[in-house]
Amino acid sequence: MRWISSNGGRRRATGLRATALALVSVAALTCGGDRINVGPVKITPETSNVPAALQVHAQVPAQGMIRSAHAMSLAARVGGLPVKASWTYIDGMPGLNAQLDSWLLGALDAKAAASGERYRPAMALNTRPATAIGPGTTLTAEPVAASGRVIVFRETENDTLPNGTSSVTSQTVYADTNTGQVHRAADLLRPEALPRIHTLLFNTAGHSPKPLPNEAAPLDIVLDDQGALRITTAQTGTGNRPARTATATIPAQEAESALGEFGRNVLSQLRSHAPVELPPAASQAFRHVNCDVVPCAALTYDDGPDPRSTPRLLAILREKKVSATFFMLGIRAAANPAIARQVSNAGHAVGNHTYSHANLTMLSAAGIMNEIGRAQASIQAATGSAPTFMRPPYGATNAIVRQAVGLPLVNWSVDSLDWLSRDPKVFVPKVLQEITPGAIVIMHDIHATTIAGQTWLITALQSQGYHLVNVPELFEGTPLVTGQTYRSRPQRW
Ligand code: NI
Repeated sequence: MRWISSNGGRRRATGLRATALALVSVAALTCGGDRINVGPVKITPETSNVPAALQVHAQVPAQGMIRSAHAMSLAARVGGLPVKASWTYIDGMPGLNAQLDSWLLGALDAKAAASGERYRPAMALNTRPATAIGPGTTLTAEPVAASGRVIVFRETENDTLPNGTSSVTSQTVYADTNTGQVHRAADLLRPEALPRIHTLLFNTAGHSPKPLPNEAAPLDIVLDDQGALRITTAQTGTGNRPARTATATIPAQEAESALGEFGRNVLSQLRSHAPVELPPAASQAFRHVNCDVVPCAALTYDDGPDPRSTPRLLAILREKKVSATFFMLGIRAAANPAIARQVSNAGHAVGNHTYSHANLTMLSAAGIMNEIGRAQASIQAATGSAPTFMRPPYGATNAIVRQAVGLPLVNWSVDSLDWLSRDPKVFVPKVLQEITPGAIVIMHDIHATTIAGQTWLITALQSQGYHLVNVPELFEGTPLVTGQTYRSRPQRW
C-alpha cells in the first residue's frame, strides 16, 4: 500500500496515526484502453506544522549540481505587507530565467494590487527581511533535481493574511537544457491521464475548503528518478493552524502509463544521474538580473582608462562584487591598452566615449564618424571587442549626432558632478539623494577624489538594496536601439 506524507517521504504509520488517515481508494482508471492504476492512496489530513515553504526548501537542493546557478533574494514591502523571496537563476537558460521572473512579477503584482498598485522595485528599497512570523508572503523558487538535459524547478508561495489565514501554492516546472524550453508539470502526462490526476488532487486536498483545482491551474508534480510521481496540494490554514501541504505518491509501476513522451524523456534523463548539460552562457561579463524585480542602478565611469586610478577602482569593484560600465576615450585606451583589457576582463562593460572627447554637436557627420570609428578601433585593439553603445562627451547630442554615431547613446539620470566638487563628502550624498531604481550615475575614474568616495557610495547603495549592474544588464529585456538616447531603464508600464 502506498501512502502520503507531508514532505514527500514515506513514513511509517502508527496505530493512532492510522486512525486519523482518510483512505481514498482510487482503484484503477482507464484511459483509451490503457489502465492507469493509481491507488489505493492514503491521505494524512494532519501534517507537520513546519510551514510548507520550509518543507519544500528542505528538500535535497540541486543548486550545487548546477555550476552556473546564482542565488538571488529580495525583501520588500508590497501592498502594506512584507514579502521575502529567494530564487536561483541559471546562466545559459534564458527561458527558465524568464519563467522565474514572470512567476515572481505575477506574485508581486498580485500583492501590490491590494493597494491598487503594480509592483515597483522601489518597494524593495530600505526593507529589512521580516524576522518574526506574521502576516506576509514568502516566495521560493529553487531547483529540486537536475540531471543530463533536465532541470526541475519548484516554485512555492506561502501567504499569511493579517487575519491569520494562510495558504500555500506551488508548481513544478521542467526545463530542457537542450532546447531551452520550459514545460509545465502537466506536460509530463498524457492528456488523457490529466482528469484522473485532478481527481486525485481533489481527494488529496479533501479536507481543504479550497475548490477543486481546475485543469488550467499549474500543478506541483515532481517526477523522481525512480519514475514515481509526487503530487503536492496545499490546505488553507486559519488562526494558529498554519497552511500545510499534502503529497500523494503514485508509484513508478503505476505512473508509467500516465507519462507522455515528454515525461518519459524527463524520466530517462533523471535516471541517468548524469552531470547537467548546459549551453554556454551568453557572455562571461553578463549575468541575468531582472531590474523590474530587484532595484538596480548602473555606476558609469567616463574619460579613462587611467593608469593610476582605474586599477584602484577595479579593486574596489571586485571587493564589492559590482559590475560597472566604463566609457573610454579612444586616445586613453590606445595609451593604456593593458588597463583597458583589465577592465574588460574583470567583467565590466565598456562603452565608446569618442576618441578625443570632442563635442560632437560641433562636428560634421564625417567628423563624428571619425571620432567614433577611431575610438571603436583602439578599444577593440585593447580589449578584443568593440563597444555596442556610446556616450557623447558632455551628453551633447543633436539630430546629426544621433544619425551619425551608429550606436545607441547612453547618457545619465544622476549627475554626480564629481569633477566639479572633487570631494566625496559633496558628490556621494548628492548621488544618494537623487538615485532611484533604474538610474544611470555618471562619474569619472580619472580623479583620485572620485575613487576615494566609491567604497562609501557602493556600501550605502548596496545596504539600501540596490543591485549595481552594468549598462547591458540594466537594459536587459529592453534592447538598446542605434540612434536612440537613454538616461535610465524605462519603467515596466
Ligand atoms: Ni567625458
